[in-house]
Amino acid sequence: MAISTGSKVIKTAVFISGTGSNLKSLIKFSKLKKSPISINLIISNNPKSKGLEYANIFKIKKKVFTFKNITDEKKILFELKKNKINLICLAGFMKILSKEFIKRFQGKIINIHPSLLPKYKGLDTHNRAINNNDKYSGCTVHYVTPKLDSGKIILQKKVKIFKNDNAKSLQKRILKQEHKIYPKALKMILN
Ligand code: GAR
Repeated sequence: MAISTGSKVIKTAVFISGTGSNLKSLIKFSKLKKSPISINLIISNNPKSKGLEYANIFKIKKKVFTFKNITDEKKILFELKKNKINLICLAGFMKILSKEFIKRFQGKIINIHPSLLPKYKGLDTHNRAINNNDKYSGCTVHYVTPKLDSGKIILQKKVKIFKNDNAKSLQKRILKQEHKIYPKALKMILN
């Protein structure tokens, strides 16, 4: 399942809820010579997302929606259309998109998740991996389908769990890898 671009740069929207470090790594990637994407829109469900600052720094259009009702999704779809968005990257986006929304962008929504899927779908992944005495955790880039964290996997990176790890230390090491594999995964699927 590759997204065909012809030779054009793909207009991308990044959805965030929090710090936006993955957004930052995607912006960096988009600025590389011959990058397959440009980031034209940043959408957040949280007006206090620290990541929204990157919209100001890099002069990217930003919009905040509560995602609480279908009207909001309609407004978002309008905004995506208006900006000719052809790819959505979820980057620390903590809301669940409706089935209808996902269908409208079928095969064109990508997510990064902080575990080795199919293990630990949902929240609190780092504590769950540590409490299970797993030797490894990691991160996964995957397509988004209506079933939570279950779409086809594009790329994963394993990260070793150390004896003295806590959720915070593990999260920090995994996040570093996330910043590498998200751009790499996009490169793989955008031809
Ligand atoms: C990242 O670890 C990302 O994988 C995770 O939230 C963090 C956001 O960090 N996403 C999820 O848990 C999605 N279910 P960031 O805002 O610094 O990119």
